[in-house]
Amino acid sequence: MRILNDNKLMLEGDENILITFLGENVVNFKIYRRLEPKYRVTDIESIRKVKVHISKRDDRIFAGDGRINITYNLKKQAFKLSCNNIDFCAHNVILSNKKYFIHIMWKKEYIYGLGEKAVKFNRRGLCLRLLNMDPSVYRVNDDPLYLNIPFLLMIGENFSYGFFLNTIRESIFDLCHNNNDKIVVESHGLEANYYIIFGRSPIDVIREYTKLVGRAPLPPLWALGYHQSRAPFPPIFPIKILIGGYKNEKNILKVAEEFRKRKIPCDVIYLDIDYMDDFKPFTWHPKRFKNYRYMLKKLNRMGFKVVTIIDPYIKYEPQSLMFKKYLEKNFFVKRDDEVFIGYGWPGKTVFPDFTREEVREWWAQLHKDLLESGVSGIWNDMNEPTFNVRLFGKKDFSGVRFYAGSLDEFRNIYANLMAIATWNAFKLFKKNKRPYILSRSGYAGIQKYAAVWTGDNISNWSHLRLSISMILSLGLCGLPFVGADIGGWAKIMTKKPYFAKCTPELFARWIQLGIFYPLCRSHSMIFSQEPWVFGQNVENIAKKYIRLRYRLIPYIYSLFWEHTQNGMPIMRPLFLYYPEDDRSHRDDEFLLGPFMLIAPVLERGSRSRVVYLPSQVWYDYWSMKKYEGGVISVKAPLDTIPIFIRSGAIIPTQPVLNYIGERMVDVTLEIYPGNGSFTLYEDDGITINSKYSLTKIINYMRGDKWNVIIERRRGEYNPRRKLYVYFRGIEEAEKILVNDKSVRPIELRRDGFIIDLGDNIKDIKINLSSIKLLGK
Ligand code: GLC
Repeated sequence: MRILNDNKLMLEGDENILITFLGENVVNFKIYRRLEPKYRVTDIESIRKVKVHISKRDDRIFAGDGRINITYNLKKQAFKLSCNNIDFCAHNVILSNKKYFIHIMWKKEYIYGLGEKAVKFNRRGLCLRLLNMDPSVYRVNDDPLYLNIPFLLMIGENFSYGFFLNTIRESIFDLCHNNNDKIVVESHGLEANYYIIFGRSPIDVIREYTKLVGRAPLPPLWALGYHQSRAPFPPIFPIKILIGGYKNEKNILKVAEEFRKRKIPCDVIYLDIDYMDDFKPFTWHPKRFKNYRYMLKKLNRMGFKVVTIIDPYIKYEPQSLMFKKYLEKNFFVKRDDEVFIGYGWPGKTVFPDFTREEVREWWAQLHKDLLESGVSGIWNDMNEPTFNVRLFGKKDFSGVRFYAGSLDEFRNIYANLMAIATWNAFKLFKKNKRPYILSRSGYAGIQKYAAVWTGDNISNWSHLRLSISMILSLGLCGLPFVGADIGGWAKIMTKKPYFAKCTPELFARWIQLGIFYPLCRSHSMIFSQEPWVFGQNVENIAKKYIRLRYRLIPYIYSLFWEHTQNGMPIMRPLFLYYPEDDRSHRDDEFLLGPFMLIAPVLERGSRSRVVYLPSQVWYDYWSMKKYEGGVISVKAPLDTIPIFIRSGAIIPTQPVLNYIGERMVDVTLEIYPGNGSFTLYEDDGITINSKYSLTKIINYMRGDKWNVIIERRRGEYNPRRKLYVYFRGIEEAEKILVNDKSVRPIELRRDGFIIDLGDNIKDIKINLSSIKLLGK
């Protein structure tokens, strides 16, 4: 083995081994007969270099920087890795005729990752496939689905590590399925290229992993509001009839008016395929959407943003001059040497070859009219890609290929490339405004361009439950902006269960949970799932929770900013904070940010819930009852989702709005007894390089004194808003001092009081003394 430079080692032989140390926590391995310079998800070579030493004893080579040490056994051709003297990862690689296998020893219990999977949250014992495809409505345990990510997060007793397979090709992960203590990763190609990421805790691993593949930029603020969508029955038969859906301008405006009339906040309305002429992307139906520009203006004036669906195809129209022109330019996916003709909603379609840059540029141009006439976001659907939507269509795609290579090789990256093309459209036609793209398919890195949702789920209780682990898993894999169709999408299916229904109870439970999804969208096939269609009681429940979502926007937005800093997801599994607590490895509860623990009711008819609280103090959000951790049982009538707040929490909130940006709003920091800190992030919420400001808040208690420090706003963004503090869980304080001056609460509440701080352009120190906490 020789050192190529400070952080790179090389061992040449029949099979070459190239090891690169990328800073303190990441090592990249390339084991190859021939390097494959083609497309990879990431190609980072230098995250702060380190200096590596090597030595050899008998048939072992030792390499390391003092912190990470690698032992390579020449006879067994196997690696052992340790970090800070903790054994991490023993593995070996077998290259075999255009395939390779990576064997990783793993005796421990927890294996997470691989992106969007409809299987159990801890993947141990499963064998999963990573190939993007359209399951056309999925059931629990179906695999694979639309979006796959070859990243694993393994959690041991006092360490965690990440494994990222750096290929865009199909792979198979046997996760201790065939062998109880071995993970076997199999993929194609002549080069096995992977990263091993070391961490004390899973949070460390996520930070490093997202540095490698990239993090999501801040979304436009309006995208954190409530989204409403509805689909027609998809035309899977050759006859194109429209059943359900919003259908025309009148219906859409009516839905928008209902939201405002009923005072249910809503920011975004989606137009599914029924806005198009003959389901052709980039067209409007000449009759049903004759005055679309007027409709868009009107909706925008009412405070709605409109997102239109775009499928990745062009109708096969050999007589059209335009079509011929792009056909001649080789803009479409081919089968052998001919253009490949598949079936989309309009019938025969051809698929843009997004592996070509010219095609991505052309596709971006096609968005001009949409984006200039008032559409604010683009919804990329069917981008696995789905080559044949017909019910009895043939599914043989042999010989299908892209300019850059075969379908097998490039399929997984198709959606990312489509999202890049769409992103370019925003750059062209929306200038400095933040793009909003929603994508169904994707691969590692899709978060840099798009939010995603978990595709065509079913309106039933098992999908309500499944949505949690799916969103959590995507979050662990670097995708913060994720949602599942609230209420469930599918009602009629070609496989069992043939029929499903979103009942009023299911909708009530789903909306209570869904307002905590990073992406909060209700979408449904054929039948309406607007918050008011399930009767007055459920409407009130939906309204209560959507309003709560709007109150939490400053908190949620700050979490999105946090993701840009350290890659943390918005919706977090409990084990991120309590990795050594076995009971925190669960998916029937989760945390929104660091402070809010949500324990949704997931069973029909249930009006109570058993909740596990990790060992520390928690407050019931509704009653302010204090808990010390452990297993508890709480009441959960239909209008209540159990929520617990971690002691010391600081949760920035705002007043309810009909839509984001309706007016300038003040911020109220909800502060809970205990110790904690949080950074409030603010900016204009719209432009890409907006000025921003950060306000750090520190909360701590000493004896009968409660102190809060609010540091002066840092940064150039100066919102004209006021700041309030709502101390919760306190009965009284003898003295309230703000920067040593005595103040009085402006409002007394059943469980605390509110004080007014004006703006926070200077440091603020709040001291409460001789306090009496609630229930003491
Ligand atoms: C796909 C999408 C779904 C959409 C439908 C019609 O099934 O996943 O959300 O409503 O196509 O466009």
